[in-house]
Amino acid sequence: MTEWKSIPELGGLIGQQVRLRGWVDGRRSSGRIGFIRLRDSGATVQLVVSRKEVDDASWEVLQHAGQESTIAASGTVAADPRSPGGVEVQVSCLALVHGTEAYPITPKEHGTAFLMDNRHLWLRSSRQRAVLRIRSEVCHAIHDFHRERGYYLVDSPILTPAACEGTSTLFETPYFDHGSAFLSQSGQLYLEPAAAALGKVYCFGPTFRAEKSKTRRHLMEFWMVEPEAAFLDFEGLCVLAEDFLVYLAGRVLENCGEPLAILERDTSKLEAIQGPFPRLRYAEAIELLRRQGSGIEFGEDFGAPEETSITREFDRPVMITHYPASLKAFYMEPDPDDPSLALALDVIAPEGYGEIIGGSQRIHDHDLLLARLKEHDLPLDAFQWYLDIRRYGTFEHSGFGMGVERFVAWMAGVPHLRETIPYPRTMDRIYP
Ligand code: 4AD
Ligand code: MG
Repeated sequence: MTEWKSIPELGGLIGQQVRLRGWVDGRRSSGRIGFIRLRDSGATVQLVVSRKEVDDASWEVLQHAGQESTIAASGTVAADPRSPGGVEVQVSCLALVHGTEAYPITPKEHGTAFLMDNRHLWLRSSRQRAVLRIRSEVCHAIHDFHRERGYYLVDSPILTPAACEGTSTLFETPYFDHGSAFLSQSGQLYLEPAAAALGKVYCFGPTFRAEKSKTRRHLMEFWMVEPEAAFLDFEGLCVLAEDFLVYLAGRVLENCGEPLAILERDTSKLEAIQGPFPRLRYAEAIELLRRQGSGIEFGEDFGAPEETSITREFDRPVMITHYPASLKAFYMEPDPDDPSLALALDVIAPEGYGEIIGGSQRIHDHDLLLARLKEHDLPLDAFQWYLDIRRYGTFEHSGFGMGVERFVAWMAGVPHLRETIPYPRTMDRIYP
């Protein structure tokens, strides 16, 4: 019996007999010839079924296998320059593994609520498959980038005793005799000690924010990659963030040609992601916005409209630095030239995708960090271990976090984050 093959292998098997199994992605027949678009491994291939080449049972499968039926096919691989994979299969035998009737998602238009209710099925459609493939490439590239530069993967915990990025947005859960635990908003605080152990480290995992926002850029559960490095100063951090984005975009262009084409992504926008990125201090960004007609004042934070407006002037991501410390997290190192500013970096993606990276140099002075914890009214008991890093061999260090879904949305050119994660968690949805 011939071995089972998968569709991506067929290009190398022209002229050979193969067996395939998968799902009916589409089907049509006219008179004595019919076609099934078979899907497996994220790809599709056309099966050509000719009445005179197959037995009655096979012909019946062609007539009746509804969309998303599971089928098995035997046949010969033939070159077909018009098809995306360059091949089609001339079928000799078809078998129904499981017949599907009335598959809910049809080629006609469906509303978003309906598609989200059927997210577990919607994943099978061509756009969703394309986005998932880009996401997979991005995740592999994230690991490769760090590995190539000598960063160790250090997993931060998800259940934590306290807040990292502010207390209002925590998911809380009972934790035995210890009261409450919280789902992590960022792995950063746990990475800083690991940087003293291993030098260059990163974590990559799910993070949680109970933000009551229903925008297209916010998820309750999203994946964040966070590098953190000992003796990395603020300038080094900016270079690292730039190299990282250029590397990731390059990997997507190199390995995701087909999904990008399915999504009709304008790849010239991705080719433009080359260093150096324009850099603006917060104060300069405020000036730019005011020139553009905004009424924003120094000291106010940027929302989505401001981010979009700033990036309109440039064809690549923009790095904004030196924010007022009052707008940023308690752990950020002050600017030595003006301590009211923080050595903070946000990278804003073009085309309205908004902030994709947030990072900073970290306070390494014990007393200053203690003062900041007090100013922010944070529970000192819970932060003793974090202060220890400044008690025993303190060191200059910096890091950033990038939201994977925001990056994937930008690469794929999809406007809403809900399509960039297999099972999105939004304020109004936790099913399926
Ligand atoms: O700017 P943020 O809050 O930074 C931190 O959490 C730092 N502790 C990271 C660090 O320095 N190690 O979040 C970092 C990134 C944002 O730039 C954005 O890409 C993404 O995480 N992000 C979200 N993505 C989807 N949904 C949300 N609700 C997000 N909140 C932040
Ligand atoms: Mg941020």
